[in-house]
Amino acid sequence: MDKQVYVAPSLLAADFLHLSKAVEMVNQSEADWLHLDVMDGVFVPNISFGMPVIESVAKVCRKPMDVHLMIVQPERYIDTFHRLGVHHLILHYETSVHLHRYIEHIHQLNMLAGVALNPHTPVSVLNDVVQIVDIILIMSVNPGFGGQHFIPHSLHKIQATKQLIEQTRSSAKIVVDGGVDTQNAAEILRAGADVLVAGSSVFGAPDPIRAISQLKHSLNAATHLQG
Ligand code: DX5
Ligand code: ZN
Repeated sequence: MDKQVYVAPSLLAADFLHLSKAVEMVNQSEADWLHLDVMDGVFVPNISFGMPVIESVAKVCRKPMDVHLMIVQPERYIDTFHRLGVHHLILHYETSVHLHRYIEHIHQLNMLAGVALNPHTPVSVLNDVVQIVDIILIMSVNPGFGGQHFIPHSLHKIQATKQLIEQTRSSAKIVVDGGVDTQNAAEILRAGADVLVAGSSVFGAPDPIRAISQLKHSLNAATHLQG
């Protein structure tokens, strides 16, 4: 059976003057989720957007909203993001003192709960939560900015995450975020990723709908090329 590949375009790379156009494009595309990066200028050296923008996006977005919180003390805003209609809430391991409690809180509100790992954080820190999380997000760049290069070592981390998931029979999906494009997508998926987050390679493409489709079908294309 073909592996199910999910694509989540990251709105961070969209033209903020025309956000409704960007969301409409995602609605019409083969994208599975819309990825929304919230940055506070404290945990990461950049500030992106927050609740008012997500509230507006929620009114037009027809795909599940996948919110990646790059903020300190993310637990302060779990209820708020739930009220905004967010479907997935992803917290960073590095910012979450009581991660287990926060995951339970997110589940009580019927959202999917995710944990993100910075490039320097080993996968083994997830040993004791892997069975209760829905999403494991491997940062394949240092968080804070779009348009950076994929860190090659991330492939080993994706493999280690896949192994951990299989050993523990967890149903968590592996999301890979940062520097993903049509060139490296197949390799990332073969390492074990389920979901490709892509910002600049989608919104910077001449035809973003086509770029999303290429990412979605990158395994077929790679098999086809190999004959
Ligand atoms: C980086 C963000 C990413 C970013 C990806 O901190 O978490 O989601 O938008 O952008 P690209 O695909 O351009 O690397
Ligand atoms: Zn992200």
